[in-house]
Amino acid sequence: MPSVHIKTYGCQMNERDSEAVAAQLVAKGYTLAASEAVADVILLNTCSVRDAAEQKAIGKMQNLAAEVRRNRPGVVLGFMGCMAQSRGRQLIDTLPDVDLVIGTQKFHRTADYLDDIFAGKRDKVVDTGEEQGSEAAIKEHILNGSGPEKSVTAYVSIMQGCNQYCTFCIVPYTRGQERSRDIAGVVAECRELVARGVREITLLGQIVTSYGRREIPVKDGRSAFVQLLEAVHEIEGLERIRFTSPHPKGYGDDLVEAYGRLPKLVESAHLPVQSGSDRLLKLMHRGYTRARYLDIIEKLRRVRPQMGITTDIIAGFPGETELDFEETLSLAREVEFDNAYIFKYSPRKDTPAAAMPGQLPQEVKEERNARLLQLINEIGARRYDRYVGTRAEILVEGPSKKNSARMMGRTRTNKIVVFDGAGRHRGQIMDVRINRAGSFTLYGDPAILNLE
Ligand code: 5AD
Repeated sequence: MPSVHIKTYGCQMNERDSEAVAAQLVAKGYTLAASEAVADVILLNTCSVRDAAEQKAIGKMQNLAAEVRRNRPGVVLGFMGCMAQSRGRQLIDTLPDVDLVIGTQKFHRTADYLDDIFAGKRDKVVDTGEEQGSEAAIKEHILNGSGPEKSVTAYVSIMQGCNQYCTFCIVPYTRGQERSRDIAGVVAECRELVARGVREITLLGQIVTSYGRREIPVKDGRSAFVQLLEAVHEIEGLERIRFTSPHPKGYGDDLVEAYGRLPKLVESAHLPVQSGSDRLLKLMHRGYTRARYLDIIEKLRRVRPQMGITTDIIAGFPGETELDFEETLSLAREVEFDNAYIFKYSPRKDTPAAAMPGQLPQEVKEERNARLLQLINEIGARRYDRYVGTRAEILVEGPSKKNSARMMGRTRTNKIVVFDGAGRHRGQIMDVRINRAGSFTLYGDPAILNLE
């Protein structure tokens, strides 16, 4: 059977989709190639959220066509995911070496289409249609068996799409309308993962806090998302629950209160703010004000004082004045984010912001991006420094990426901790003493337990 290599661009949802496609292909008898150099099928799972991400994938495909294809004409080349969805057939028109274009509701068809291509039944395939039920088609996992490499953490996709229509964002057009899986299906998947050795699950969706809004009624004042958290929390053997990304407008009191009640729900929230200026938040169609955002942060820290808070911020949205930008800087200081992902505004096809007046020159975006980055690094360093000398509970995930002789785990607040450990620590929850903080990384030693 042919071997497949999938290269993933973009967010955790994309990583999860790639994993599910790989698992579906393996189930059909395909093998996973160690690298693209030896693969019979090369699939690029793409991102459209900024132009740079699209250009990267297009450049990569041009290289594959010129290098891999020339030496091995039989190699099948394909695009999947968000850019495949938004550009469709046009990708084959401009890159005629591409055989396969699979949209965001058709991942699960990949194996059938490849079978058809290898059987000579089809030459090129473009499928970017909508498909009812596709939100429940991302279920299969590749866990690294039960040996020393076994996976400790897993992503579970609970919904697809987005109805928020932020004016800068292409996602509602690439991922479609919000559709949620049912609670029983998500819980069954999580249960199986735990049975296979997973100890931490991250629930994924474009806006997880909108989970089940239309399908599952509010019960005893608890939203569908909180009901799902409660159901997953029941799973014995599961140690930690994370989710990403929520939307600030979805942080109702029921969710804040859940942090106080569900110990497996870790003290960590990635809460994209995008801007600190009310004027811009309105132009962005975010649905909250600066005051409301700050109020949520305060409530979360009241329930869980250690709460790790990260965010996404856009620098240089159309019409952003120096004053607007300073409000973003002051919000970052006020919240004291543990970390933030900062993006230069990138106009996206068919989005309202791309046609707004006041598009800013690249130099302004870059200058603001750099200032914000410096501030976020300063604040982050202070927050990480506070861990030095303390004890933290980590879940050990495996060897450190930078130095495979050391092990790494994560605190409940989502900080990476590197320490001298051994393979047997993998999957363990353990206490470490933090003795140093580096750039967004903590270094520690296993704590000697004082058994009195
Ligand atoms: N330009 C720059 N950044 C963007 N994001 C989304 N759309 C754009 C865009 N057009 C950022 C937002 C979002 C993150 C995933 O990507 O900050 O939260």
